[in-house]
Amino acid sequence: SAAEKGGYDYFMLKEIAEQPKAVADTLLGRIDDSGSLTLDEVRISAAELREVDKVVIIACGTAFHAGLIAKYAIEHWTRIPCEVELASEFRYRDPILDPRTLVIAISQSGETMDTLMALRHAREQGSKVLAICNTNGSTIPRESDAVLYTHAGPEVAVASTKAFLTQLVACYLVALYLGQVRGTKWGDEIDAVIRDLSQISGEVERVLETMEPVRALARTLASKNTVLFLGRHVGYPVALEGALKLKELAYMHAEGFAAGELKHGPIALIEEDLPVVVVVPSPRGRSVLHDKIVSNIQEIRARGARTIVIAEEGDETVVPYADHLIRIPATPTLLQPLVATVPLQVFACELATARGNEVDQPRNLAKSVTVE
Ligand code: AGP
Repeated sequence: SAAEKGGYDYFMLKEIAEQPKAVADTLLGRIDDSGSLTLDEVRISAAELREVDKVVIIACGTAFHAGLIAKYAIEHWTRIPCEVELASEFRYRDPILDPRTLVIAISQSGETMDTLMALRHAREQGSKVLAICNTNGSTIPRESDAVLYTHAGPEVAVASTKAFLTQLVACYLVALYLGQVRGTKWGDEIDAVIRDLSQISGEVERVLETMEPVRALARTLASKNTVLFLGRHVGYPVALEGALKLKELAYMHAEGFAAGELKHGPIALIEEDLPVVVVVPSPRGRSVLHDKIVSNIQEIRARGARTIVIAEEGDETVVPYADHLIRIPATPTLLQPLVATVPLQVFACELATARGNEVDQPRNLAKSVTVE
């Protein structure tokens, strides 16, 4: 009913709007007054966490994209090798697992059969499984050794939005916690990132306030057949997520690429007026990547692409090559997905509406996939 949707036309719009609160709720009670993480829920002892020599993340769909981003954070802050695998592929290749492997299963619903079967397989091999889940008491957390709940509140729309952002927050918390417990050389950076995370809800709010031009742009693209998404580093999984949202909601051909791969094939797809969304990393921090992406934007634009550029406020280098510029607040590199994904959700939702599609219940899809 309209009341359930809180005055919004669709649950998806409501859930997009709830993201600042969802993100704040996921952090709530998990950072103490001294700025340290208190993840008592991770009932795996500090001694066991110090023994972990490999992290394996298993998930499907949007949760898999959260896992891809988590890999950058986990490897950077903990120096533990991290693999991310589609749950549906995982157990069928006889993966190498032992008691020193920490498996993280990410699932909004906690009922995804592919993820459940993968975690059962991991536990059979003696690995510890930590679930990151949004649904209290669901099967995946019940069958795991520990669970970190993402407190996003119920997500009704089939297309995942607020669950994704809170999965990212939970993954960062796990990565930072592992770093804290194991004591890495990133101690100061970890403290700073914990402070930055506390600000992120407000940054997501600011992004939401500036989405009208993104909606207007989406409406002009309603008759297109294809949209491409490019990113690098954590912007690459963001590109994959932007493409997935567009597939499931707008039923358009959408693909995400690592921008560095363009020259190895995908650049052949570029033709006159093809919309290409590019997620630009911060010019601070990993500036080499930033400059490489700016060259990519120049290259595709020279070949006729219509460039839709998502870039940090104050990044002026992209201005000459952006047909459309979407601004996001400056954040630390690893946290950028929390703000960069939001315009892509709004973009897909508006395109679905413009094309007359059912936003909350896309064709052929179910909210939780309880068959393998
Ligand atoms: C996302 O928009 C999807 N509808 C889908 O990819 C989803 O993320 C996937 O099925 C995993 O679901 P889960 O998080 O409930 O396990």
